[in-house]
Amino acid sequence: MMSSEPGKTKFQIDLRRHLRSQNIDDNLVHLICEISEASKYVINAVRTGDLGVAGTSNLYGEEQLALDVLSDRIMRKRLVKSGVVCNIASEEMDEIYQVTSDSDGLYSVAYDPLDGSSLVDVNLAVGTIVSIFAGCDLLQEGRKQVAAMYILYGPRVSLVYSVGNGVHEFTMNQLMEFTLSREDVRMHPAGNIYSPGGLRNKYNEGDEKFIRYLEAKGAKLRYSGGFVPDINQVLMKGKGIFIYPALNGSPNGKLRLLFELNPMAYLIEQAGGAASNGHVPILDLKPESLDQRAPIYIGCTEDVSKAMEYLNG
Ligand code: AHG
Ligand code: MN
Ligand code: MN
Repeated sequence: MMSSEPGKTKFQIDLRRHLRSQNIDDNLVHLICEISEASKYVINAVRTGDLGVAGTSNLYGEEQLALDVLSDRIMRKRLVKSGVVCNIASEEMDEIYQVTSDSDGLYSVAYDPLDGSSLVDVNLAVGTIVSIFAGCDLLQEGRKQVAAMYILYGPRVSLVYSVGNGVHEFTMNQLMEFTLSREDVRMHPAGNIYSPGGLRNKYNEGDEKFIRYLEAKGAKLRYSGGFVPDINQVLMKGKGIFIYPALNGSPNGKLRLLFELNPMAYLIEQAGGAASNGHVPILDLKPESLDQRAPIYIGCTEDVSKAMEYLNG
């Protein structure tokens, strides 16, 4: 826990200073700071960039927007130049990008450069999601991540990270510096908001019953269609659950294990919450391929276990 230095309120503690208090390797401090710097160029792209299609598709066969490709290039360039990265995987690249075969003291990064990009043209919040492993192997269980973070481009720009010592939020100030705004974010055992992703007419019976349970207990529906703002709301309010379940016709749901689920599951568990695919913790899933998807139930522990009861009841 960072004690405020005399004359300095905790809100003036910047990202680098906070990272240095986390007792982690200098290369990891440098890497997370480089990602925070790259996000400033992504913000500029989101605010002023071309909203059209890129004319290409990603490894999921989804049409890429110009912003997806531009954000991906910004992130990749920064990671390559950081000097502390050996392998890179991106939701927008077909295969792993090897920076160097050397792994000593280096990290590998999986990222979604602009999650929710299709929401930019209707001016809704979007974000960048990042998962970090030590060494060169990106197909490890999520529990082996050494760090996870996201940057949320909303009315305010916030950066949330964990390196295994709790979850911490930084907010961008008028000088475009990330300064500490919440330290050691914790979730309640149960919540009062829910984010039901996907088409409800494709939900299986157990999930449909779970939603009706949530509504009967007075939970409010909160769903923007952007994974980063929707998860950020559950995390920062500490009271809720986000689900994107297996749907009829899509047994693995929609969301991507490496680029979306592992980093968010790491953060939510670090804040005292839970994240499951309906049967086992997300972080215990061994990825078989870069493009692997999984159903997700993520948020307050009691809400996630109640969902499992309905799903497997
Ligand atoms: P991406 O923009 O990276 O493809 O991700 C979009 C995802 C995620 O942000 C959100 O939770 C989900 O798509 C929404 O899916 P539906 O529109 O099917 O609800
Ligand atoms: Mn995404
Ligand atoms: Mn994306």
